Amino acid sequence: MAIERTLSIIKPDATKRNLTGKINAKFEDAGLRIIAQKRIHLTKAQAGEFYAVHKERPFFDELTTFMASEPVVVQVLEGEGAIAKNREVMGATNPADAAPGTIRAEFAESVGENSVHGSDAPETAAVEIAFYFSGLELVG
Ligand code: CMP
Repeated sequence: MAIERTLSIIKPDATKRNLTGKINAKFEDAGLRIIAQKRIHLTKAQAGEFYAVHKERPFFDELTTFMASEPVVVQVLEGEGAIAKNREVMGATNPADAAPGTIRAEFAESVGENSVHGSDAPETAAVEIAFYFSGLELVG
């Protein structure tokens, strides 16, 4: 399988509860390498730009308010089949449906406050990585 890169976000509900290290351990234990990482505090407008694909959804305002409520940790994960592997480690979007041992099963509070975001395809991964990082910041 090809080496891929994917964009991951540790969301406000998780940074607020000091879960960054525990979540990073799940990625590293699964063989994903954190090749870039920074802690930032998004504005609501920046969160809206990142999640523009969801702007017609009823939860858009709730989502962008939440993403701007506390700092987030944005990161690039690299590894074989990293996009699918990351989604496996995260678990289902709704923690009620997430498999045992996944990040969302262990840490997420609700479908909205679900601890992590991960890109869903190679095309979106490329766009999402470029949203937060310059090429110089990616050190594989
Ligand atoms: P994420 O992978 O970051 O992509 C879009 C986010 O929208 C998703 O995770 C959820 O956190 C959020 N989301 C999806 N459905 C709902 C919902 N019904 N109510 C609130 N937030 C939602």
